[in-house]
Amino acid sequence: MSSPSSGTGPRFSNEQGGDAAVRFLPASGSGKKRRRPSKKTLWKGLALLGGAGALALITGLLVWHFHLREDQKVQKTYVGVMGISDQQFVEAYEEPSSEEYKHLAGLVNSQLKVMYSKDSVLSKYFQESTVKAFSEEEDGIVAYYQSEFSLPEPRLSSLDQAMESLEEPEGQQVRQGRLLLRPTNTLNVHRMVTGALDPRMTKPKFIKRESTSLHVEKKGELRSPGFPESLYNPSTFLQWKLRAQPHHRVRLEFHSLAMEEDCQKDFIKLYDSLVPIEHLVLAEKCGNVHKPMVFLSSENVMLLTMVTSKENNFRGFRATYSQIPLNTTCGGQLTGLSGDINSPFFPAFYPPKTTCVWNIQVPKGHFIKLQFNDFSLADPAEGKAGCTKDYVEVNDQRLCGKKGSSVITVESTKMTVRFQSDDSNVDSGFAAQYEAFVPANPCPGRFHCDNHQCVNLTLQCDGWEDCTDRSDENNCTCQESQFLCGNGRCKPSFWRCDGVDDCEDGSDEEHCGQCSAGQFRCHNDRCIPDNQTCDGTNDCSDGSDEAQCKEGVEAKCSAQTYRCSSGVCISKVNPECDGEADCQDASDEANCECGTRPFQSSAVVGGEISQVGEWPWQVSLHVRGMGHVCGASVLNDGWLLTAAHCVQDDDNTRFSRVDLWEAMLGLHIQGHDSEWTVRRHLKRIIPHPSFDPKTYANDLALMELQKPVALNQNIWPICLPSPAHQFHAGESAWITGWGTTREGGFKAAILQKAEVRVVNQTVCNTLMEGQITDGMLCAGFLKGGVDACQGDSGGPLSITAAAGGRVFQAGVVSWGDGCARKNRPGVYVRVTHHRAWIKEHTGL
Ligand code: ARG
Repeated sequence: MSSPSSGTGPRFSNEQGGDAAVRFLPASGSGKKRRRPSKKTLWKGLALLGGAGALALITGLLVWHFHLREDQKVQKTYVGVMGISDQQFVEAYEEPSSEEYKHLAGLVNSQLKVMYSKDSVLSKYFQESTVKAFSEEEDGIVAYYQSEFSLPEPRLSSLDQAMESLEEPEGQQVRQGRLLLRPTNTLNVHRMVTGALDPRMTKPKFIKRESTSLHVEKKGELRSPGFPESLYNPSTFLQWKLRAQPHHRVRLEFHSLAMEEDCQKDFIKLYDSLVPIEHLVLAEKCGNVHKPMVFLSSENVMLLTMVTSKENNFRGFRATYSQIPLNTTCGGQLTGLSGDINSPFFPAFYPPKTTCVWNIQVPKGHFIKLQFNDFSLADPAEGKAGCTKDYVEVNDQRLCGKKGSSVITVESTKMTVRFQSDDSNVDSGFAAQYEAFVPANPCPGRFHCDNHQCVNLTLQCDGWEDCTDRSDENNCTCQESQFLCGNGRCKPSFWRCDGVDDCEDGSDEEHCGQCSAGQFRCHNDRCIPDNQTCDGTNDCSDGSDEAQCKEGVEAKCSAQTYRCSSGVCISKVNPECDGEADCQDASDEANCECGTRPFQSSAVVGGEISQVGEWPWQVSLHVRGMGHVCGASVLNDGWLLTAAHCVQDDDNTRFSRVDLWEAMLGLHIQGHDSEWTVRRHLKRIIPHPSFDPKTYANDLALMELQKPVALNQNIWPICLPSPAHQFHAGESAWITGWGTTREGGFKAAILQKAEVRVVNQTVCNTLMEGQITDGMLCAGFLKGGVDACQGDSGGPLSITAAAGGRVFQAGVVSWGDGCARKNRPGVYVRVTHHRAWIKEHTGL
């Protein structure tokens, strides 16, 4: 929907512009008689001088404006498509060095010249045209060309106008042009499309320009140079011209795309043409694209361009091409009680210039409801009246742009759904279901949402919003297992006091274990008398009454007490590295370099991109030929901690072999090492001997680096908690990794982070049907939506200690039921539980 690229003209730099300066002579002139001027004369003189100066300035500017500026010529390039009928396509037209090509190109050039000569503006500034390609179309040929003009900058807009007037297919210009050629040379031009070039493609400083022609009738693959082993080159302009047979579409599927985030620097752009005409752009992409993208042309050609800037290179992309027959049947007559409709080729990007009409007719006495589950149409005419570009029209109501799921109901037995895409800019389209319903009973056997959606009855008042308008959670009578929020909603009781505002009015987090005066509130919400705190006895049973004490109090050693190097135990909770020497020998403050972000410069599901240096203990484990496979954490300069299931052999790969792996430390973006990134091979892998691949018990492994690394601002160890270290339910924790950003999705290129909460062990064990052992720890949100996922395994679950602010590794990403599903928190190795085993092998 490309409005012809406005403001894309060449940039005009005016050499003289800044120099129209007027120099003032010194005020004490050259007069011999040095009279002291009176105040009045001085002012007069100054005024005169000022006036003269201003005059000179204005004159200068005027001269510059009318003369110099007129002389300052700029280059403007247009690209165009010319449809030529009554011509037979021959193979040689694809070979620019052939005689046939040169001959036809000559005809096209003279045709253009004649056309331009009919317009005073075009003829005055026209320089030359070059034919860029030919393609075959139904009884005819399409010529793709480029025309150069040179003109004074102020005339640019009249040139644009003149160019536009060439376009009418039946327009005067075309016919006149044809008539002017001698009969033997006449080209039967039936179509012209012209547009300015994207200015980013005319940058003069490309080190490399390359164009590749490909036929797509046989399936094949194309990759950006060096993909995936090395990064693409700076300052390049690459083109791939894709041709299908007549009556076919080009299909191009991207499997992976990793480019700079800023599209002004590096980008790919696809066109429904063989030259980059902005009216015919399909899409522009940059950054990291995780979901596969499939593009389809409206006819038998497609152009892929790639532009890279002079700095920051990435891995690029891999795509596969093929062709499919043109005749797309979409739309039709639908008479069933329900059915599916979607944009052509959904979820592939719909082709441009497509219209589909569905006529839905349901039995008498029924109305129709249409529920959209996905809806992404390109480029709505932002805010402007009515969807004029790509749209879906339901009876008379137009929808465009991107929407969440929505429902449209018509009180009639007929519904007409029309999908329309224009010449340019495409997206993934829509998928919808229609359903007939009896007005008296719109959702037989199901719950009727206020927006006419129907959801399973069991979902009503279950604490989750299932109607897109949340109406299934209104006016509920809470069940026994539920908590009544202040706003009338019901939420599962075990969500109370978990540190998350589930009610969205805070009421589920109020009155959480309030204790009366003179009482201390434990972390686990128990109340104990104030005087039992800091007495060396663990009265709360979670040790929280001994946590915030001035100094460690000696206590009987137990699972909850911290053991100093001397063997003495103290009752304070999490005393290690909190900045206070609690043990008499201060051993709780020894080895505390860990868990800080020393020089922070500034797939996780539901996460966000992290900063460089934010997680310096995060490691990416690569396997030869596979790239990133698992995460790990830095324990010190020689040891990493990961998951045992990452290093188990499978049918195809012996993941237990040391030489297969390469650890990437200090990495931020996959495929984009920085000066701080260190790659290391491994000396050995020590999987936990009791790892159970069925239950995932003891899912941890140690890796020793072949040689130690020098720690730096992006490589830094995380703190290992003592066995007594406590992580409380509801406590905030961070997960990090390059894993997939949704279940079954693609791995992330940039390190992702997401905040989760530690989940109560008993609650988790109930939710996960008894699969949670003492050596595991759950974290996530019972609502779902945020979680680690495939490829995050082995990475750390990081928790910042309340006292001291150091980051401790509470868990190792291990397993889950899917990713980010509701009531299915992520499961982690409980590091405290395995502390002794880690020490045994690493001494840490
Ligand atoms: N096992 C997965 C891996 O190999 C990680 C699973 C984590 N899943 C979760 N839902 N938290 O990468």
